[in-house]
Amino acid sequence: MKKLVTTGIALALGLGMTMTASAAGDAAKGKALFATCIACHGTDGAGNKALNAPAIAGQEEWYLERQLKNFKEGIRGADAKDVYGAQMRPMAMTLINDQAVADVAAYAASLPAKAAADTVTGDAAAGKASFAVCIACHGADAAGNKALNAPKLKGQHDWYIVRQIKNFKAGIRGANPKDIYGAQMRPMAMTVATDDIANNIAAYINSLK
Ligand code: HEC
Ligand code: HEC
Repeated sequence: MKKLVTTGIALALGLGMTMTASAAGDAAKGKALFATCIACHGTDGAGNKALNAPAIAGQEEWYLERQLKNFKEGIRGADAKDVYGAQMRPMAMTLINDQAVADVAAYAASLPAKAAADTVTGDAAAGKASFAVCIACHGADAAGNKALNAPKLKGQHDWYIVRQIKNFKAGIRGANPKDIYGAQMRPMAMTVATDDIANNIAAYINSLK
């Protein structure tokens, strides 16, 4: 496991240098496009557990853009077992070009992040210890790190964090050969040995208000 982690971090550091430039997003134009997103993510972008939709408000623009493109291209959300990704994919497809993707990402990123409710039962203190592996990329405060392509986790719903850890572990996310960044995260999820540990980590992240 230690070797996997070290390899993954080295890979992330190497790839962090080769970020591709993308069109600058116009949040005002993105607001109109966001009308499609409201049904599941809410007007405030805070997400909706009943609809399985995560928070996107206040997430990093570059990360939102990447995920929307990944959904569009089937790099994410196309696995036969990806029930929730399959709900999101057709929504990303309504964004007709890279500019539309950039605009809606800019708008969602501009919305203030909201504190997420506790829905997962976990031991935050134990989760803190397990989170030590994650700090290298996501940061001690889980605020993310653009240079390492790692998104913000703070403020995200605990149930969604747990789902993504499980999806990465199972290869439902991150196993597509074109998923460069998911491939960096997958071996990290594999260090999360049990569901209880995933719950503990989610509880810890949720304690970082
Ligand atoms: C029908 C409900 C629905 C609509 C409408 C919808 N989404 Fe989603 N979205 C989801 C679900 C469910 C997920 C979680 C997918 C998963 O678990 O992998 C998701 C995930 C996402 C993610 C990934 C977040 C992350 O942290 O990785 C982004 C970004 C996103 N949606 C943006 C949008 C945008 C922008 C729109 C409007 C163009 C939109 N969504 C419309 C249901 C929806
Ligand atoms: C080597 C760097 C690295 C380490 C260490 C790492 N991650 Fe990640 N993580 C990433 C990258 C890169 C992504 C973005 C993947 C993508 O673009 O789809 C990511 C994505 C995620 C996501 C998905 C977030 C979302 O909004 O969908 C979760 C959850 C996550 N990581 C949790 C963790 C946890 C928990 C740990 C520690 C056990 C960890 N990560 C360790 C690099 C890392």
